[in-house]
Amino acid sequence: MSLELQFEETIAHDQRLEPRDWVPDAYRSTMVRMIAQHAHSEIIGMQPEGNWITRAPSLRRKAILLAKVQDEAGHGLYLYSAAETLGADRAELTEKLVTGRQKYSSIFNYPTLTFADVGVIGWLVDGAAICNQVPLCRSSYGPYARAMIRICKEESFHQRQGYELLMTMMRGTEQQRAMVQESVDRWWWPSLMMFGPPDADSSHTAQSMEWKIKRHTNDELRQRFVDMSVPQADALGVTLPDPDLRWNAEREHHDFGEIDWAEFKQVVSGNGPCNAQRVAHRKAAHDEGAWVREAAAAHARKNDERRGS
Ligand code: 3HC
Repeated sequence: MSLELQFEETIAHDQRLEPRDWVPDAYRSTMVRMIAQHAHSEIIGMQPEGNWITRAPSLRRKAILLAKVQDEAGHGLYLYSAAETLGADRAELTEKLVTGRQKYSSIFNYPTLTFADVGVIGWLVDGAAICNQVPLCRSSYGPYARAMIRICKEESFHQRQGYELLMTMMRGTEQQRAMVQESVDRWWWPSLMMFGPPDADSSHTAQSMEWKIKRHTNDELRQRFVDMSVPQADALGVTLPDPDLRWNAEREHHDFGEIDWAEFKQVVSGNGPCNAQRVAHRKAAHDEGAWVREAAAAHARKNDERRGS
């Protein structure tokens, strides 16, 4: 059986492709692109919430936020390792990120202006990530699918801690309730943009579905997220900022308003509120950490010399 046929048979039988398996160059480059951008998103995503670690209102909230931000770092390292199984070079991926040649999720280019944002990011942003990533646990590339299983478990903790934080604030003062609503108003629409452009404008979805990298389209997962979030917003006592949001009994889904795709394009092309700050911070951390990488490499060389290898 030819290598191409083996590849096609593996996908047709819902089996997983492993690093040793032959795959078409286009499959490999799509997987490297998707995994790398996911990894970049995890690492950049540490910045918005990290902004509140020193200003958390209690030791408990500080400890939870620290744990969450550390989780994101671990997700990034996990995903860079998955990209390396496809022959990608981690240093090269970082270079592509800081020089704007690879993307990260649009959502992290918005500022975190109040502590309620920490709760809303947990509830909506990590909630959207779970919606998007649970199907990826069945992605055709084995190392990525397995990474998703562990990451999704931790994202569930992220989502729950955010929702619990907001429930606490909604039981607080009028000012705290207003702070939560103001935060929801800022994060709702950018959270819907996390799922990518509409299917009709998605350059990768059709091929990614054929290769069973993606199991659902951008619009399908966005709709699933909206349907999941409406009752949660009701239970929380907040209003989602969309006058067109309503249950459609015929579709058995919620209809919702038009997303501002011009804003999405602006943010994805680097002109969002925080793009420059996020990338500059990532580049500075990488440059300032060069000595750690050099020291670790020197230590590894010495160990090899001692072992005579
Ligand atoms: N932000 C930035 N770029 C985006 C984007 C977004 N929200 N949505 C789409 N794009 C980009 C794509 O990368 C692609 O550009 P490229 O060709 O230069 O890579 C272009 O827009 C066309 O979009 P497509 O829908 O055709 O691209 P994909 O098929 O790759 O779909 C995706 C986009 C749904 C984000 C998909 O890549 C995906 O599911 N990735 C894995 C999950 C992921 O990366 N999630 C990031 C969320 S952040 C996170 O999980 C951290 C957590 O702690 C919250």
